[in-house]
Amino acid sequence: MDNFIFTMFEGLPRQGPGSNACTRKAFLMLSALPARPEFLDIGCGTGMQTVELARTCPDCRITAVDVHQPYLDDLTRSAASAGVGERITTVRASMDDLPFEGETFDVLWAEGSIFVIGFAEGLASWRRLLSPGGYLCLTEAVWFTENPSPEAAAFWNECYPAIKTVPETRAIAEDAGYEVVATFPLPASAWWDDYYTPLIKRLEELRPTVAGNLGAEALVEFAEREIAIYREHAAEYGYEFFVLRKKG
Ligand SMILES: C[S@@+](CC[C@H](N)C(=O)[O-])C[C@H]1O[C@@H](n2cnc3c(N)ncnc32)[C@H](O)[C@@H]1O
Repeated sequence: MDNFIFTMFEGLPRQGPGSNACTRKAFLMLSALPARPEFLDIGCGTGMQTVELARTCPDCRITAVDVHQPYLDDLTRSAASAGVGERITTVRASMDDLPFEGETFDVLWAEGSIFVIGFAEGLASWRRLLSPGGYLCLTEAVWFTENPSPEAAAFWNECYPAIKTVPETRAIAEDAGYEVVATFPLPASAWWDDYYTPLIKRLEELRPTVAGNLGAEALVEFAEREIAIYREHAAEYGYEFFVLRKKG
């Protein structure tokens, strides 16, 4: 049961909102990369963005980290079939205890994963891994309104009460020692095409198999509720891509 939350997303193209177009758009904002840059993709999941980064940046090397080995195995397979496997190394590790020397990476990448340890905590603890002037590119849940509806507010209060507006989130990044190079919202297609649409199909398949397993049933119901809330309230919240650069 402990692993059901991970199993639920196995084999899906993504484990959070995002798209190859958004990954490329953020990458193209990195104007001062060294030759053969070293990337660290934190909470990579099955690695759709990892493979897209490797395709988009032919001289970069990427270390991809996740706690769930089946996701890393999936990534290894898709990287090999995309012909970029030799430039991607997977490491099973936790994002709150990353086993790398200081200043090892030119770019940290974290799509939909920093919430696991919290935005401010992730920014503070990962900063040491970046070379001087290195970039941190990530997506984070944000409010697009200062007056969310009671339904959306109740949902986020339950699952991620730390969610803030874009200006508040930018301010946290600046206080943590980063320059905000750019930010942009993920479009609705980045929620539906490679994330919610395959997830809806998976939930339909899982429903009959979890009957009587209260923990698993609750997780399936929560995912269904998350999708229903997004369908109704997408104008009020979303994911913002933040392209940050280490200062000092
Ligand atoms: C919302 S998913 C995002 C995955 C992928 N980046 C994407 O955008 O599709 C969050 C990922 O963080 C991973 N994760 C959860 N806890 C973690 C931890 N403590 N350390 C590293 N990864 C973790 C999960 O296994 C999952 O793959």
